Amino acid sequence: MAVAIEQIRSEIVDALGEVDSVLDVGCGNCDLVRFLARRVAKEAIGIDIKAEDIREGVQSEHNGEPAIAHCKRGDARQMEDFPDGRFDAAVSVHALHEIADPHAALCEVRRVLKEDGLLLIADFTKGETRWNEDYFTPAQVRRMLHKAGFGTVHVKKVRGEHFLFASATK
Ligand SMILES: C[S@@+](CC[C@H](N)C(=O)[O-])C[C@H]1O[C@@H](n2cnc3c(N)ncnc32)[C@H](O)[C@@H]1O
Repeated sequence: MAVAIEQIRSEIVDALGEVDSVLDVGCGNCDLVRFLARRVAKEAIGIDIKAEDIREGVQSEHNGEPAIAHCKRGDARQMEDFPDGRFDAAVSVHALHEIADPHAALCEVRRVLKEDGLLLIADFTKGETRWNEDYFTPAQVRRMLHKAGFGTVHVKKVRGEHFLFASATK
């Protein structure tokens, strides 16, 4: 059984709580960004090398206040639109393995996080054969996060699945 999107979202909500701003790296169709704006952040921004530009106002499920969901085209390896320390948190789901230079992307994500900002990664691990892609092992992800300069790094594999959750602080 694959790890359900609901489980991924629940991990994200538990880890982030409520923040002002969150970045979704490799956001795809913007679904998670909308969810993040409803549940986690006043402002959720997604970037994806192939994304359509989507900007929507949504209502926070916490307090009924307006929140922003914004997805735009951008390269995680070079996020010049965002200044240093722009985001409280960042997430990346099913995307790390697809980024051509993950070290460059992780360094950029770290740069745009505030001090103590949190990065959460959810991705397949080596051994997942459904799409026959070149996934990372948990140990590789741990090393990559340290190499990019992240401090407290935790990587856990989901029991019985070729899937991992990683968290790291700037
Ligand atoms: C498997 S999809 C996952 C999309 C979405 N996060 C989801 O869970 O449905 C991986 C995404 O990473 C994006 N991507 C690949 N390289 C990227 C890069 N350098 N910068 C930003 N996004 C990138 C792809 O365009 C693709 O939409």
